[in-house]
Amino acid sequence: MASSTGASRQYHSTLAVVARLAPYLWREQGFALRVRIFMALALLLGAKAATLFVPVFYKQAVDALGPRDVAIALPVGIILAYGATRILSSTMQELRTMVFDPVAQHGVHRLALETFRHLHRLSLRFHLDRQTGGLSRAIERGINAVENLVYYLVFQVAPTLLEILLVSLVLWWLYDWRFAATTFLTISAYTAWTLAVTQWRLVYRRRMLEAESEANAKAVDSLLNYETVKYFGNEAHEARRFDASLTAYERAAVWSANTLSILNIGQAAIIAVGVTLVMLLAAAGVARGEMTVGDFVMVNAYLIQLYLPLNFLGMMYRELRQALTDLGQMFRLLGVEVEVRDAPGAGPLAPGGGEVVFDDVRFGYDERREILRGVSLRVPAGRTLAIVGPSGAGKSTIARLMFRFYDVVGGAIRVDGQDLREVTQDSLRAAIGIVPQDTVLFNDTVYYNIAYGRPSATPAEVEEAARLARIHDFVASLPDGYQTRVGERGLKLSGGERQRVAIARTILKRPRVLIFDEATSALDTRTERAIQESLRQISRDVTTLTIAHRLSTVVDADEILVLQDGMVAERGDHAALLARGGTYARMWAQQAEAREDGPHG
Ligand SMILES: Nc1ncnc2c1ncn2[C@@H]1O[C@H](COP(=O)(O)OP(=O)(O)OP(=O)(O)O)[C@@H](O)[C@H]1O
Ligand SMILES: [Mg+2]
Repeated sequence: MASSTGASRQYHSTLAVVARLAPYLWREQGFALRVRIFMALALLLGAKAATLFVPVFYKQAVDALGPRDVAIALPVGIILAYGATRILSSTMQELRTMVFDPVAQHGVHRLALETFRHLHRLSLRFHLDRQTGGLSRAIERGINAVENLVYYLVFQVAPTLLEILLVSLVLWWLYDWRFAATTFLTISAYTAWTLAVTQWRLVYRRRMLEAESEANAKAVDSLLNYETVKYFGNEAHEARRFDASLTAYERAAVWSANTLSILNIGQAAIIAVGVTLVMLLAAAGVARGEMTVGDFVMVNAYLIQLYLPLNFLGMMYRELRQALTDLGQMFRLLGVEVEVRDAPGAGPLAPGGGEVVFDDVRFGYDERREILRGVSLRVPAGRTLAIVGPSGAGKSTIARLMFRFYDVVGGAIRVDGQDLREVTQDSLRAAIGIVPQDTVLFNDTVYYNIAYGRPSATPAEVEEAARLARIHDFVASLPDGYQTRVGERGLKLSGGERQRVAIARTILKRPRVLIFDEATSALDTRTERAIQESLRQISRDVTTLTIAHRLSTVVDADEILVLQDGMVAERGDHAALLARGGTYARMWAQQAEAREDGPHG
C-alpha cells in the first residue's frame, strides 16, 4: 500500500517519538502511577547491583575450594550468599516489571482511546481515502509499539548499557585496564556489527511486512466482495492476485531468515573472540600468580552474564525501530488535521422550526471538478422540498453538506438563519436526521440498530418507531424478534428491510430536519405508500428534504427542484412543473408510461 510506505516521513527521530509519547506515561498518570515509576527505577538499580555481586561470590567459593592437600571446610556461607544474590536479582527484575506494567498499560489505554476518538473526528474525505483495515491495524500496531518501546528502552537497553559500564569498571578496578578495554572493545564491535547488519536486514523485513499487509488487504477486500466474486466467476483471478502478494512475502521472508543467520554467525564469532582474549589475559595472570583460579572463573562469569543479554541486541534494535515506526505512524494519524472543525467560540444550534437555506452554494469534492455550481434553495420551517434529477447530479451531496461532512467552497448553508460553520457540529447533527441512500447497519441486533437513533429510547418507543416504518410486523414474525442479528453491514436483511430499519431509527431520533435520500427506493409500491403515509404524519411539522428518482413519491411536496449539472434547472410544485413542459414534465411522462406498462400498475 502506497499510503503506508510514505507514512514514516514525520517522527523520524527517536527523540521526537519518545517526546510525543512521554506525556502518556507521565503527565496523564495519577500520583500512584507516578510513584510506581520511581519504584520501578529503584528496583532496576537494585537488580543490577545484585547481579554485579553474583560472580564475586562465585569466585570466593571457587577460591575457598581451591587445590589444597588437606580437607577443607565447606564455604557454606559463601554459596548461600551466591544463591541468595541470584534470587534477589531475578526477583527484583520481575517485581520491577510488575510495578511498572500498570503505568505502561494505562498509557496504552489513553493513547488508543485518543486515537480512536480522533479517527471519528476526521473527515469523511479522509476515511474514504483510507482502508479501514489499515486504520485499525495502525491502532493495533501502535498499542503494541508503546509496550515494546517502553519495555525495551527502559528495561533492556538502559539496564544493559548500565551493566556494561559497571562491569568494565569492576574489571578495571579489580585487575587491570586491559580486561576492561578488551571487554569494551568486544562489545563495541558486537554492537556495531549488530546494528549494521540489522539495519541492512530491515529492508527485507519491511518488504515482508508490506507484502503481508498487502496480502491481508487483498484477502479482506476479496472476501468482503464474496458475492461479486461469485457473480462473475472470478475466483481464479482473486486467487492469482492473492498469490502474487504471497509470493512476494515468501521471498522476503526467506531473505529475512537468511540474513538473521548471517547476523547470528557474526555475533557468535565476535563474542567467542572477546571471551577467548579475556580468558587468555586471565590465564596469564593466574600463571604469573597475580590472579587466583577464582578470578579466572569470575572474569568468565562476568563476561557470560554480560554477553547473554546482548544476544537479543539485534532483536531489541529491530523491535525498537519497528516500535518507533509504528508509533510514528500512529502519531501521524493523531496529527492529521481535522478538516471540518468547530469555529472558535461556536455555540450550539439555536432552537427553531428547522428552516433550511442554501445560498448560492458551490462545492466540489475535488477542486478540479465542481459538483454544485451555485445552488440556492429555501425550505421554510415544516415544509417539504423534493429534489429530483439525473444520477450524479449532486443530490446526495446536498445531504452530506447539510451534515457538514464537508465545508462548502462558496456560498453558505443556513439552518434557522445560522451558518453551519458557526455552530457546533454536535448540535447541528443532533438536529438533522437522514435515511441515507445506502443504508449500512451495525453487525448487531435489529433492536440495537433501531435504538441507535436515540440510545436512551424505551423499548416501547423503539417498537413505535418500527411500526411507523412498517417494519414491526416483519420483525415480530422473526424467530428471534428484535434480537435477530442483522449480519455484517446488515446484509442478512433485504434491501427494503434495511431501508425500513434506517427509517425507524431516524424516526426515533426526532430531528428538526429530515432528509430522505431515496429512502423508499427499494420498497414495493404498496409498502412505499404505507410508509409515505406514516412519514407524512411524522414530518407534518418537520422540515423535510426528499430525494427521489420515483417522481410519484414527490408529487405532494411543497416545492420540487430539478437539479441538473450542479444547478437548479427548474423549480415549482408538481402542477406548475408539469405545466411548464420542461425536464420534469418529460421525466413524469416517461415514468407514467412505465407505470402503465409495468406489472405493478
Ligand atoms: N467522495 C467523493 N469524492 C469524489 N467525488 C464524489 C464523491 N462522492 C460523490 N462524488 C461525485 O459527485 C457527483 C455527485 O454525487 P451524488 O452522490 O451527489 O449524486 P446523486 O445526485 O446523489 O446521484 P444518484 O442519483 O446516483 O444517487 C458524482 O458524479 C460522484 O461521482
Ligand atoms: Mg445519491
